[in-house]
Amino acid sequence: MTNPITATPNRVEHQLTDKGYVPVYTTAVVEQPWSSYTGDDHGVWATLFERQQQVLVGRASDEFLRNQRAMGMTPDRIPRFDDLNAVLRKTTGWELVGVEGLLPELTFFDHLANRRFPVTWWIRKPEQLDYLSEPDLFHDLFGHVPLLMNPVFADYMQAYGCGGVKAHGIGPDALAQLTRLYWYTVEFGLIATGEGLRIYGSGIVSSGGESRYCLESDAPNRLGFDLLRVMRTRYRIDTFQKTYFVIDGFEQLMAATRPDFVPYYQQLAAQPSIPAGEVLDTDRVIHRGTGEGWATDADF
Ligand code: PHE
Ligand code: CO
Repeated sequence: MTNPITATPNRVEHQLTDKGYVPVYTTAVVEQPWSSYTGDDHGVWATLFERQQQVLVGRASDEFLRNQRAMGMTPDRIPRFDDLNAVLRKTTGWELVGVEGLLPELTFFDHLANRRFPVTWWIRKPEQLDYLSEPDLFHDLFGHVPLLMNPVFADYMQAYGCGGVKAHGIGPDALAQLTRLYWYTVEFGLIATGEGLRIYGSGIVSSGGESRYCLESDAPNRLGFDLLRVMRTRYRIDTFQKTYFVIDGFEQLMAATRPDFVPYYQQLAAQPSIPAGEVLDTDRVIHRGTGEGWATDADF
């Protein structure tokens, strides 16, 4: 365990991947340096927390909002991982571990497969309130952790980790296909409810702009979830999404992902990937996007 003294992430290198350059950090688990958070750090947490809580009323799924309250996260200060862990452990058996930032894929999968969720210990600076190109404490804690309290979603995350270890052994195409599934569910998923569409994806709930855009803008597509279709769909990491996939419930996700993916990877190998904004004849279209304002350069 290392104990950073300054509030500076321990960045190791930038690695060129199919998503462009991504920062790669030390793979070690670190103690949350809670007493080194500055007034600014707690202020950023408070500002973002209060802002998102207001935006998410009537937009985020009930499971998300209810579990966030149940965890005892409050705006007044950055939560201590230890306090959240006391609640998580007895609810679904998950545990948060502190990390410097994005992890290599296999390290990340191994954590999930063992019901450990890696949380970036540092928080963005006040001048980065609206946009940051990599996950920080606010995204990880506010966005991801509440749904780890939901038993079905908690199992999905663990199964995903096991699937990731397997895909990693199969090869880069399988890995890319599985990563798309994570992107369009865990990060950017929408869920249909009796009251209309709601957000459950962490990348959306931690973004004020995208929380409104994904539900209210006419620009993006909103399509019914279809596992193999999602696994073929490219995505962008630097703009709002062109397409959101809508699940009917977490049980649907579990049921769709329960089979062995090996035959799926074989089948997908013969099929081209699909551009992020494309709508197919076979799609269940909830809303066909106008495409207004879309960037026209390539998706990943
Ligand atoms: N069933 C998948 C496999 O065999 C694993 C998985 C579970 C993947 C849940 C994603 C989500 O690879
Ligand atoms: Co995330």
